[in-house]
Amino acid sequence: KLPSFVQIKEVGPRDGLQNEKKDLPTEDKVTWIDMLSNSGIKEIEFSSFVNPKWIPALADAREVGKQMKRNPDVRYSALVPNQKGLEFALEAGIDGASVFMSASETHNRKNINKSINDTFPVLKAVIEEAKQAGKYVTGYVSTVFDCPYEGRIEPESVVEICERLLEYGADDISLGDTIGSSVPSQVENLLEKVMVQLPKEKIIMHFHDTRGMAIANIMTSMQYGITHFDSSIGGLGGCPYAPGAAGNVATNDVLYLLHGLGIETGINDKKIQEASLFIQSKLGKVLPSRSLLASG
Ligand code: HMG
Ligand code: MG
Repeated sequence: KLPSFVQIKEVGPRDGLQNEKKDLPTEDKVTWIDMLSNSGIKEIEFSSFVNPKWIPALADAREVGKQMKRNPDVRYSALVPNQKGLEFALEAGIDGASVFMSASETHNRKNINKSINDTFPVLKAVIEEAKQAGKYVTGYVSTVFDCPYEGRIEPESVVEICERLLEYGADDISLGDTIGSSVPSQVENLLEKVMVQLPKEKIIMHFHDTRGMAIANIMTSMQYGITHFDSSIGGLGGCPYAPGAAGNVATNDVLYLLHGLGIETGINDKKIQEASLFIQSKLGKVLPSRSLLASG
């Protein structure tokens, strides 16, 4: 049985832009986010408060946070790796802090420059402080299926990280197929193990679409009762510390699937189309979303 309503978190302004070579002016980001704010989307990950030397494309996170027009029906969240990032993020007026780490030791070190064990106390402090400040907290776990450096990741190590992040106070967990390698049987295997410990309402699936499997994986996740997914307009994106990984599953393609199945999202397809064409023209390249291409 499929759900009647699915909640989409738009991660394009963060995951979508973090790997872009082209320097997109802050003003264009803000205009784009304002378009997304008026599309019916209920959560937008608008930027990252990480070290700008690591992710130069998002060095203007504070300006974006201050300049975008807030729709009171939208939760504006951002990636926060440590307390310094949280300080900047609170200044910029975030509603939600998204902490992140990887289930793979090597990917964790490459992405955030620490061992998994050394990451726990950092994220615990961020989560506790963000909760005290009244913010929503999502805990991302990356490379939940496969790691570009270590190969297959055991579901048990993912479950352990999820439990710890929830114990520290995270409100929900986003499970990242960082390199877009999984197939539905891997999704089933992981969800069966994770759902023993976590209620399905607290699980978000975050699929990159490197091999075109994301839509099949979303379908499988919904059959397991998952109703929260991350996606990116036009399929923009990728993790700079995961070589060869393509963008997130395209919001456009997810909406084509969901609306075609009669599943409500509250999101207006036409406004998503307009926001896609806007960012496509600003970046000067054709975005990979299949349904965007088909819509001409
Ligand atoms: P580090 O270099 O180990 O940090 O970076 P440090 O604590 O040793 O500090 C070094 C310098 O960075 C210092 O400056 C700090 O002040 C500064 P200096 O004294 O040398 O001038 N610094 C900061 N500046 C601004 N904001 C901050 C901050 N923190 C330290 N927050 C750190 C550690 C985690 C910050 C770094 O490794 C980093 O920024 N990594 C980010 C990597 C990243 O953003 N990756 C992509 C996002 S994750 C992803 O895409 C996966 C996901 O989509 C899910 C999935 O697909 O699986 C979420
Ligand atoms: Mg990602």
